[in-house]
Order: sequence, then structure tokens, then C-alpha cells
Amino acid sequence: MNLEQLKRQAQKEASLINDVSELEKWRVRYLGRKSSLSLFFDSLTKLPLSEKKRQGKEANKLRQTLQELYKNKKDEIENKLSATAAINFLDITQPGVKQSEGHLHPLTLVTREIVTAFEKMGFAIVEGPEIESEYYNFDALNIPADHPAREMWDTLWLRNSHKIPNPKSQISSSRLLLRTHTSPMQVRYMETHQPPFRIIVPGRCFRYEATDASHEIQFHQIEGLMVGENISLANFKAIIEEVVKDIFKQQVLVRFRPSYFPFVAPGVEVDIKLKQDTRHKKQDTNEWLEIMGAGMVHPDLFKRVGYEANRWQGFAFGLGVERIAMIKYQINDIRLFFSSDIRFLEQF
Ligand code: PHE
Repeated sequence: MNLEQLKRQAQKEASLINDVSELEKWRVRYLGRKSSLSLFFDSLTKLPLSEKKRQGKEANKLRQTLQELYKNKKDEIENKLSATAAINFLDITQPGVKQSEGHLHPLTLVTREIVTAFEKMGFAIVEGPEIESEYYNFDALNIPADHPAREMWDTLWLRNSHKIPNPKSQISSSRLLLRTHTSPMQVRYMETHQPPFRIIVPGRCFRYEATDASHEIQFHQIEGLMVGENISLANFKAIIEEVVKDIFKQQVLVRFRPSYFPFVAPGVEVDIKLKQDTRHKKQDTNEWLEIMGAGMVHPDLFKRVGYEANRWQGFAFGLGVERIAMIKYQINDIRLFFSSDIRFLEQF
């Protein structure tokens, strides 16, 4: 057996191979236990020592060459395979996968607009707890347990809520509830701050309601409170006119109707009327729409938080965020806000 011949034959065959199983057959043929090369090694035992050494060395060299050839060929085939796999995977002619982009909820959008409008008028933003005590939600606002005004707020009480002692309250303990309005923050804020100040309190409120197109079990309010030395309802009207103009991007008529809330005196209901329909640009076809309750802070509240008597005056209001959003976007059912209906949400 001529080693040189064997080598050339192996190289020639290897050069024609381009798949793994062919290469494997090649390996068995040239490097396997029954290959000519192995047989050649076996035959060496019969030779004299010097010949054995010389030919053994040659054969070893050939084996090494063939092993390298095998390895290189194998790498070459595998690389080719993964390259074609990558090409098949990356079909540059295929249209791209469109990333669906999220966006803000209409209530978030409207809340931010309202908050920004008040910020421009110098109001600071404060937040309060959604789980509130009976004291702050009712008693501190002149709504004791037997007051008929409690009926206006169908309350969600927390079962097993521990009665928490309240040092600020004449009543010794207070049950927990989901706040029915953001007004509790009036008292909470005044307990820890001295006038003059102006704040707004955006937040979620809850009422035990039978839901329909205009009632939801959860809704959002923005409470407002401005206290100072000579703050009047006229100041309030001027600020509200400015804010609604900012929110609706047009001149808006504002009117007060007398109303009653135990924690203000006098109390009013604020209505607005848009000159222009927000969508259809119709002129003057609009109704008066109620957007908030408000009034001058009741002196009882100032007394309760320990303010100096007869020194301060202020107004408070509670604005319905859903109300504003419904007017702004011509939405006719409040339940849509919490329906998670993507067809509704995608319109904003
Ligand atoms: N908290 C009242 C409500 O939820 C609104 C209000 C706030 C009224 C502040 C007067 C002053 O109906």
C-alpha cells in the first residue's frame, strides 16, 4: 500500500463531500478500524525495528493529516448548514411585525389636563388614601352618623375593619370604608398645614351604586381647596372659568346653582355650557351640564382643625373627572371607562 497514493485518494474523495453522512462514511473508510491505514499499522509488527520506525512515522503523519482533513471538512459543512439556516430564518422580504403601542387611558389624559390647568393657577397637588376612616369621610365634614346627608353617599364599608381610635375626633373610634369622595382630604390637609394655600386632590372614589349610563361603582374626583385671608366665591368663579377654558380650549359659560353640602356654606352646584359642541362644531345647541359641587368652607371645619377663629376664608370644590371626559369626548355611558373594551380605548 502506497501511503502517498492513499493520501491523494482520500483528499480527492473528501473534496467532493458536502454532507455529514457522506463525511462519516469517508471517516470509517480512511480512519476506521478496518481502513487500509489501520491494516497498514497492523502489518508493521512484522517488519524489522528500523523499518517499523520509519514507516510508522510516515503512517502517523498520514493519519494526522487525514484527521485534520476530517475536522476541517466537518466544520465547513456545519458552517454552511447554519448559514443557510440563518438565511431561511431571516426572510428579508417578509413584512415586519408591527409593534402595538400602548397609550394612556382617557381618564388619565383628562386628569392630567385638569391638573395642569390648576397647576398654572398655582395649585399644588396632594393625594389621599382610598381607604378612609368614617371620621374623615363623614364626621369631620359635619356628617354625623344620623345625618340624612349620609344617605347621599351609599357607602362601601370594609368588613371586619378594626375600629381605629382617633385622637382628633370627638367620637372615640372610626370604622373604615372606601372613600365616597375626595373631601376627606380637606380636613386631613388642614390638620397639618396653615393657610394660605391652594391644593387639588385627584383620586378615585367609590359608591355602592346600581350602575347605569351615568353611575359607576368607582369614579374619579378632583378636590380643590383654597384658603386665605380674603378668598371669596368670586375668586372661585374666576379660577374655574379660567380652568374650564383651558380644558375645553374654548370660551365656556359657568353658572352657580344653590345647593347643599354640610361642609360648605353656602354650597353651590357648578354648571358649564360650551359655546361650541366639542366634536360637531355646532353653535349654541348645548345644554347646561353639572360638573362639580362646591362652596365656601364651613367655619366648623376651620374650628375642628384648630385654625384661629374668624381669620380664614376659603372655597372647596369636588370636580367629577368622568363628567368632564364625557363632555369633552362626547361619551354617553360612564361604564365604558372601566369596560376594558379595546374598541373604546383605542379611540383616544
Ligand atoms: N364631596 C362632594 C361630593 O362628592 C363635592 C363637594 C366637594 C362639595 C367640595 C362641596 C365642596 O358630592
